[in-house]
Order: sequence, then structure tokens, then C-alpha cells
Amino acid sequence: MSRLVSAKEMLEKALAGHYGVAQININNLEWTKAVLTTAQELKAPVILGVSAGAGKYMTGFKTVEAMVSAMLDSLDITVPVALHLDHGTYDAAVACIKAGFSSIMFDGSSLPFEENFAKTTALVNTCDVLGLSLEAEVGAIGGEEDGVVGAGECADPEEAGKIAALGVTMLAAGIGNIHGVYPENWPGLRFDVLENIRAKTGNVPLVLHGGTGIPDEQVKKAISMGVSKVNVNTECQLVFTEATRKYIEEGNDLKGKGFDPRKVLKPGCDAIKEKVKEKFEVFGCVGKA
Ligand code: 13P
Repeated sequence: MSRLVSAKEMLEKALAGHYGVAQININNLEWTKAVLTTAQELKAPVILGVSAGAGKYMTGFKTVEAMVSAMLDSLDITVPVALHLDHGTYDAAVACIKAGFSSIMFDGSSLPFEENFAKTTALVNTCDVLGLSLEAEVGAIGGEEDGVVGAGECADPEEAGKIAALGVTMLAAGIGNIHGVYPENWPGLRFDVLENIRAKTGNVPLVLHGGTGIPDEQVKKAISMGVSKVNVNTECQLVFTEATRKYIEEGNDLKGKGFDPRKVLKPGCDAIKEKVKEKFEVFGCVGKA
């Protein structure tokens, strides 16, 4: 029996308690271990995000589920952990449900609204029966995600309301946020749009994608207005790469057994832990598990 849980309860508590749960994307075993041990240490619930690309890199969703479930046992992780498909197509959503993920994001935002609505409806029913949480999306989030590039768009509050009414667990709706590093002339989050979306979506926890590089004060304001989950990916990749580069450039791989892959990867993993800690503190989820 896996220790993975649906994200529903943790997000409802976050919405009621006015804090955010972090979705941290994972790419390999070391990354996963760094995130889980930090969550346990800080007593924070956490959502592990897996993009289609990361799933493929780790040889498939089944491998990811097996690795994460086993790690929860072997590290004795007792804080709530959801394993979540990030920006899935309908087929990827079905594959992750079969693989034992506890949470699914179906991203139909690039489809005609009627198709997004129909496919989200089908998945709401399946996820309900299986006790999984489901994230839907309206209004594409800009930037680059697995090679797909878009602009910082805003969702239509009416469409957001219609998708929220289907009974999804959480809803991603663009408010000018983008994936990856923000351009220098980025005007910031559209709180006016967030307010309209909140007004049309009842009590559905909202999701803020593109958590890398949004000023902390803007993230906190979005959380105070009903965002309950904030996604972070690029920032962990940046600190991991930076720390690994430094380790090599300082010639540590040439000293003693410094070439040992476990040693080479350690500074990057330590950097991820620090970054995750920093994010948990900003989102206010420390001690909430
Ligand atoms: P960043 O890569 O900008 O942190 O965004 C992550 C994300 O939103 C994943 O869905």
C-alpha cells in the first residue's frame, strides 16, 4: 500500500489556512530524495510534479511511481505527499492513473474550450471514483514547458468558472504568469484578473504556475487571494546546475574520489534543498503537515 495521497485535503487546508502548498518538479532519484527529506524536516505537505518529459527521462510513469512510493517507505516520510502529473495530455493522464499517481493535471488549455471541457469532465468522473486529485487548466500559461513556448496570457474568468463547476480539485488559470525565467520587462501578475477568476470559481483552490522568479511579495499576495498551490521547477534546475558547475570548476572531481557520482551530485542536491526550504517559507507551508 503506497503512502501517496491525493492533493485534495492538503489544498483544502491550505485554502482555509491562507498558505500555499509547493509543487516541486522532480527529474531523478536524487532530486526526489532532496525534496522529500526537506518536506519531512520542515513538516510541510508537498506535491511532486512530473512533466511528460521528466517521466520519459525516468523511463516511464510506472518507474516514477515505484521509485517515489518505495522512497516514502525507505525514508519513512510521514508528511502528506502527492505524486502529480504536470501539464498532461489526456493520454498521459490515463497513463498516470494506470501507473498509480495520486494526482493528475490535465492541461486542455491549448484545445478548443468545448474539447477541454469535455475531456476534463471525463477525468473528473474517473478521478472521483479512484480518489485522485485533478487539476485542470484554462488560458495557456506562457513561457517554455517541455519545448512548448507561449506568451503570458490571462484566462477568461467565465471559462474558469465553467471548468471549476465541474468539480475539479484545483484550477490553473493564467494571470500573466509564465514558465521559466521572466523577461526583464515582465509587467507582473494581473491581480485584477485573479480577483475576477476567484469571484467566478467559488472555493476551488487555484494554482499559480511559473513559480520561478515571481517576486515573493507577489506570490504572497496571490496566496492571500486564493492561490493554494505554487509550482516551482526552473529555479531548482538553475541552482542544481550552478552548484554542479562550481564543484567541477573548483577541480573537486580531480581530488580524492571527487569523481564519485554521489559526490558530484551532492552540491546540486544540497542547493535544491536550500531552494525548496526558501520556497516553503515564502509559501507559508512550514509546519502545516
Ligand atoms: P517554473 O519552471 O517557471 O518554475 O514553472 C514550473 C511550473 O509551473 C510547472 O508546471
